[in-house]
Amino acid sequence: MDIQTKQILDPQQLQEAAQYVRPRIAKPPKTALILGSGMGALAEGLDQAEAIFTKDIPHYPTSTVLGHKGRWIAGKSSGIPVLAIQGRVHAYEGYGADKVAFPVHLLAEIGVERLVVTNAAGAINRFYAPGHFMVIVDQINLTFGNPLFGPNLRQYGPRFPDMVSEFDPEYVQIALQEGLALGLPVHKGVYLGVLGPSYETAAEIRMGERIGADAVGMSTVYEVITAAYRGLRVLGISMISNMATGMGQTELTHNEVVQVAGQVEEKFSEWIVQVLAKISG
Ligand code: HPA
Repeated sequence: MDIQTKQILDPQQLQEAAQYVRPRIAKPPKTALILGSGMGALAEGLDQAEAIFTKDIPHYPTSTVLGHKGRWIAGKSSGIPVLAIQGRVHAYEGYGADKVAFPVHLLAEIGVERLVVTNAAGAINRFYAPGHFMVIVDQINLTFGNPLFGPNLRQYGPRFPDMVSEFDPEYVQIALQEGLALGLPVHKGVYLGVLGPSYETAAEIRMGERIGADAVGMSTVYEVITAAYRGLRVLGISMISNMATGMGQTELTHNEVVQVAGQVEEKFSEWIVQVLAKISG
């Protein structure tokens, strides 16, 4: 039987991408942010910003989704150097899990050590509401894919990476504290990652509730697995854009997701700026 070798990261491609990025970012920040649907504004507030279009980075997967821009912006957030990624790709666009995780490998390659991952998510937990936030304490990968599938490249990480504290417990505390200090409706909970692109059925959401998930979305899990593998410390934050199927009254649309994100974007940015200062200090 042939071993499945389709889904593996090509170190040569990663090197070519890194070679493109390095000379274009004067001093690579140690902290990076991946910004989810409609949450890109934070990147626009950075000082002394340098931008790269992801379509120009060799082998970089480009996004096709409305509300995703496809830029890397390096700059300062209240004096802290950060690299913000506006626009991510999702497996439902047709990319393999390894491609979805490519940006995280590239961040690790240029020396990033801390990663803040954000997303829009549907609430499974009945105490959540649109406009609330969830600091992710753990995740359930229900996509049936894994970015580390295939032969392991030992130079990047272990064959069987530990996932016990893939979301850094200290970062969780910092994010909660800062969020509550700003008076934001912040929870901590478990993120359920699904493949999409169809939204979940009500039965799937009931299953999610029973297996211990608080919010559901179509991103993040591959990035977090890869970050854990590459030894990055991770903070994950979900912006609750809607109640998941069967948990609310309204029909789900992507417009709703982008609209709710737009309404809370400013508060969200204010919070993240505080958090970045604390975790980078
Ligand atoms: N389900 C899956 N992904 C999502 C949702 C949802 O309800 N809301 C935002 N992204």
